[in-house]
Amino acid sequence: MARVLILFAHPGQRHSRLNVRMAERARQLEGITFVDLYAEYPRFNIDIDAEQARLVAHDVIIFQFPIYWYSLPALLKEWQDLVLEYGFAYGQSGSKLAGKLFLPVVTTGGARDAYREEGSNHFRLRTLLSPLEQTALLCGMRFVPPFALFSAHDSATDGRGDAHIAAYLRLLSALRDDTLDLEAVLRRELLDDGEIPLIDAIRGPTPSETRPSPSSITARISE
Ligand SMILES: Cc1cc2nc3c(=O)[nH]c(=O)nc-3n(C[C@H](O)[C@H](O)[C@H](O)COP(=O)(O)O)c2cc1C
Repeated sequence: MARVLILFAHPGQRHSRLNVRMAERARQLEGITFVDLYAEYPRFNIDIDAEQARLVAHDVIIFQFPIYWYSLPALLKEWQDLVLEYGFAYGQSGSKLAGKLFLPVVTTGGARDAYREEGSNHFRLRTLLSPLEQTALLCGMRFVPPFALFSAHDSATDGRGDAHIAAYLRLLSALRDDTLDLEAVLRRELLDDGEIPLIDAIRGPTPSETRPSPSSITARISE
């Protein structure tokens, strides 16, 4: 079984329509470590040693956050700046994260059509998240295409929210149980609601079913 860590960063949780619901369901999943960074560090006093130890103890690292100004909420950027130290995450003898999986889980206010070269946001979401992708690569991690929901504001009423939460739980369970067809997933640009059939096609059981015998994702990806 892979050890999955979710670092959740949402500074405006009382206005959240989706992320908090996703987080509440995810944190109940067995075998998942869930951390609410804004609850843990309301004054941005990040415990670097504790965060590094937490990273070392997991195989799959997930950042879950709403897109703010085409980027990360401030605490998550601060976390990156402080925790991913030279000699720990990168650089000479800095290989503590090598071989792990890294997955961004994001929501946007903007519509899918806006996130195109011809759209009002001019850039694709995957392109906007390229600093995260390159950070993962520099640290020797494998970057899993972002699991994204566009137009998150509408999702509570148009039915996509519930489907997205269900897909998130399936994705987390598959990462934990090493039942994800990783090679198929890595070929995608995004894992979004257009790709939910892909997530449905993940090998193995749904969260309510019996788990297969565990094996390590990190072992598979280093093959
Ligand atoms: C300060 C701030 C900046 C935001 N910047 C963006 C942005 O750059 N692009 C975008 O699509 N949505 C943007 N949004 C909208 C959020 O991404 C959206 O409200 C969130 O994903 C919805 O999830 P939630 O209901 O869990 O809060 C922004 C919202 C706030 C409050």
